[in-house]
Amino acid sequence: MSTYSLADFPPALNLETEAVLRALVLAHRHLAELKGVARTIPNEGLLISTLSLQEAQSSSEIENIITTQDALYKYQIQPQRADPVSKEVAHYVEGVDIGFRQVRQHGLLTLNTILAVQSALEGNDAGFRKTPGRVLKNEQSGEVVYEPPSPEQVPELMSALEQFVHDESELDPLVRMALVHHQFESIHPFYDGNGRTGRIINILYLVKEGLLDTPILYLSRYISQTKTTYYQVLQQVRDHNEWEQWLLYMLRGVALTARHTTWLVEGISALLQRHKQRIRSDYKFYSQDLINNIFRHPYTKVAFLERDLGVSRATATRYLDALAKGGVLQKHKLGRENYYINQALVNLLFDLPDLDDGEI
Ligand SMILES: Nc1ncnc2c1ncn2[C@@H]1O[C@H](COP(=O)(O)OP(=O)(O)O)[C@@H](O)[C@H]1O
Ligand SMILES: [Mg+2]
Repeated sequence: MSTYSLADFPPALNLETEAVLRALVLAHRHLAELKGVARTIPNEGLLISTLSLQEAQSSSEIENIITTQDALYKYQIQPQRADPVSKEVAHYVEGVDIGFRQVRQHGLLTLNTILAVQSALEGNDAGFRKTPGRVLKNEQSGEVVYEPPSPEQVPELMSALEQFVHDESELDPLVRMALVHHQFESIHPFYDGNGRTGRIINILYLVKEGLLDTPILYLSRYISQTKTTYYQVLQQVRDHNEWEQWLLYMLRGVALTARHTTWLVEGISALLQRHKQRIRSDYKFYSQDLINNIFRHPYTKVAFLERDLGVSRATATRYLDALAKGGVLQKHKLGRENYYINQALVNLLFDLPDLDDGEI
C-alpha cells in the first residue's frame, strides 16, 4: 500500500469502496430527513441557538474544556458572572454563527471564514501558527504521535485545502467533508482551536453543500462519545494510509447524529405546538415573538423579552411573571436578577438519551 503524505491530497486511492458507498446511503438518508424536519420549524434561529449551544458543549468537551448547558445558559443571562470555561464555550457559539452567516452569504467556505471562526473561538487574531514545535501527543501516554507541518508550509497547504473545498469533484460531498476534516487536523494550522474549528468546518461544509439549511447537526456528540476511536482512526490514516476506516467512522457519525438530531428536533417541534396552544388559550398577551423568545432562550429574562417583543420593562416583567405563575416557566434568581426557565424544553435538551452503544 502507498504511504501517507500530507501533500497528496486528496489521496489517489479508490475511496468510495463498497462499504463506504453503503455507509453513504444511510448517512444521506438520515441527513435528508433531518433537513426536512428542520424545515417544519418556521423560525430557524430557534433551532440554531439551542442546537449550536449543545454542539459547542460537546465539541469543547472533546478538548477537555468542560462545562454544562446550565452554565452556558446562565452565561447568556449574566455574561459578567461567568466562569472562564463557560465564556470560552460561549465563544464557540459565536464562531458557528459567524461562519454560518458567511457561508450563507457567499455560498463559499473560504480561508477568511475559517480564520474568522477560529478567531471568534479563541478571542484573538493570532492567525496561522508561526513558530515551530507543535506536536500531537497521545493523551494517555504522552507519546508524540504526529508532527504537523512546519509553519512555512501552512499557508500553501491551507490554500490547497480551500481550493479542494470549492473544486468540482466526483467524490460524494460527505466523503469530501471527512477528507477535509482529516486534512485540516493534519495541517493543524493554528496554535490552538484546531479540533474545534475543524468540527465547525464539518457543519459549515454541510450547509455549503446544501445538505442542511442551517448548522444544526449535532456531530460532536458522537465524536465525544467515541473519542478514543476518533484519535485512533485519525492517526491510522497517517501511519498506514488507512482511509476507509476514517471515512466509515465519520459516515457512521453523520448517520447516527442526523437520526438523533431529527428525534430532538421533532421533540422541540412537539413542545413548540404544546406551548403555543396553551399560551394562546390562557394568556391574552400571546404572540409568536413570545413563543420564539422562550424557545430561543430556554433561560430567558426581562431584558430579552423587552428586546424581542419591543415592550417596556414593566410589561415584559408582567408577562414573564404571569407565565411563571401559570407554570409555563419557572422563575429563578441569579444574583439580583430573575430569570425564567422553559423547563419542558430544558428537560428535553439536558437529558438526551445516549447514542446507542450497539450502533457506535
Ligand atoms: N493523538 C492525536 N491523534 C490524532 N489527532 C489528534 C491527536 N491529538 C490531537 N489531535 C487532533 O487535534 C485536535 C486538538 O487540537 P487543538 O488545537 O488543541 O484543538 P482545540 O483547541 O480545539 O483543543 C483534536 O481534536 C484532534 O482532531
Ligand atoms: Mg486545545
